[in-house]
Amino acid sequence: MHVAVDPDRCQGHARCWEICPEVFDLDAEGHGTALVSDVPAELADKAREAADNCPERAIVLT
Ligand code: F3S
Repeated sequence: MHVAVDPDRCQGHARCWEICPEVFDLDAEGHGTALVSDVPAELADKAREAADNCPERAIVLT
């Protein structure tokens, strides 16, 4: 599963990082970034939960 954060949509709510810090981090401006481009299978559920909890729907999982 591929993961990316859409920088045009992210408003820095930080829920991604709170829910799944193994996959998401925050940059210097507090915007979400993906630490990996491919989510390990064991983290897929957490990454999905993070995406579902992003108020801006900025996390793209494919
Ligand atoms: Fe941004 Fe959504 Fe995370 S707004 S910081 S991608 S929870």
